[in-house]
Amino acid sequence: MRILALETSCDETAAAVVEDGRRVLSHVVASQVELHSRYGGVVPELAARAHITNLIPVLEKALEPVGREGFDAVAVTQGPGLPGALMTGISFAKGIAYAAGKPLVAVHHLEAHIYASWLIPPGREADPPDPPPFPALALVVSGGHTFLAAVRDHGQVKVLGQTLDDAAGEAFDKVARLLGLGYPGGPAIERAAKKGHPDRIPLPRAWLSGTYNFSFSGLKTAVLREVQKAYPSARMTFAGERPARESSVRLDPQFVADLAAAFQQSVVDVLVEKTVRAARALGARSVILAGGVAANQLLRSALEEEVRRLGLPFYVPPLTFCTDNAAMVGAAAFYRYEDGLQRGWDLAAAPALRLGQPSSGEAPE
Ligand code: KG4
Ligand code: ZN
Repeated sequence: MRILALETSCDETAAAVVEDGRRVLSHVVASQVELHSRYGGVVPELAARAHITNLIPVLEKALEPVGREGFDAVAVTQGPGLPGALMTGISFAKGIAYAAGKPLVAVHHLEAHIYASWLIPPGREADPPDPPPFPALALVVSGGHTFLAAVRDHGQVKVLGQTLDDAAGEAFDKVARLLGLGYPGGPAIERAAKKGHPDRIPLPRAWLSGTYNFSFSGLKTAVLREVQKAYPSARMTFAGERPARESSVRLDPQFVADLAAAFQQSVVDVLVEKTVRAARALGARSVILAGGVAANQLLRSALEEEVRRLGLPFYVPPLTFCTDNAAMVGAAAFYRYEDGLQRGWDLAAAPALRLGQPSSGEAPE
């Protein structure tokens, strides 16, 4: 079965065709990074407008290898995400499904990130790896979400713990902005950290013992304090939720590199330790790393090492399937479709859709 999948929940316009939930026949992503970078973050209204202009060219490219009618169903991200951005994709998907007379499947964005591990990595088509065995423990770390989930079977995802404040990716983005490293912050911090030393500036770790929850706001504030300590006259601050550099003081590149490395190490230490603990408690048979922050090399290698030590297989998608894309939506949709979870024409965007919540036409809070 071939599913044409669409993803527009944030700032990537993406379309893909995925066969039987695993084989990627096409995969196209139009990134809006440049559009939003001058604002230091995603501007929702601009994102929605850009989806409207990007959707047709992205779709045309995605359909090239299979032809205009080369799909059996249409899948789209229902939520969570930016309301206007989700609406463009959903309306577009409805139009295609209606015109083609094919069923429409709604997908949860975070479930899709997990299902990126079901996709056959490029180059492995002739010898596909086995998909993750259940129960699987998934660490999902993106720009908007950070949580640990038990995946007992298809469609049976239970959140064990989540962030109480910032998502991991959000913390990367805010700290990068404070350090003048630009947007998106994750790759920028990772690059800067390569030239730094993680132990030179000690930063805290928020263990939140006895829970599988996370918190990154204290760490973010600790980074700010270090900058204030080193540059007392710079008056740098996290203005509201958005850190702003209030002066034109140029930070010493080595100081920035050391702080970036210390910050990255603190985030990775906590994520890895809590994931391993949860995997043990669940009796997991595999561990999955998912979401945009899964592109981080330190996180990938540190978690892989600990998971292998547990004797479990470790799944992390290739970089191209870690950040927002439509192939992962096509994978999740296949198993949803198998479960009979197709949707009607009343499908609406659900900006705050929760995992494990049955998706409805209404937009639940
Ligand atoms: O999953 P995603 O593409 O979009 C959301 O659904 O949020 O994740 C984007 C997030 C951003 O916060 C970005 O800074 C972060 O993933 N990210 C990284 C890296 N690449 C992207 N964080 C750390 N290291 C990276 N290499
Ligand atoms: Zn995402």
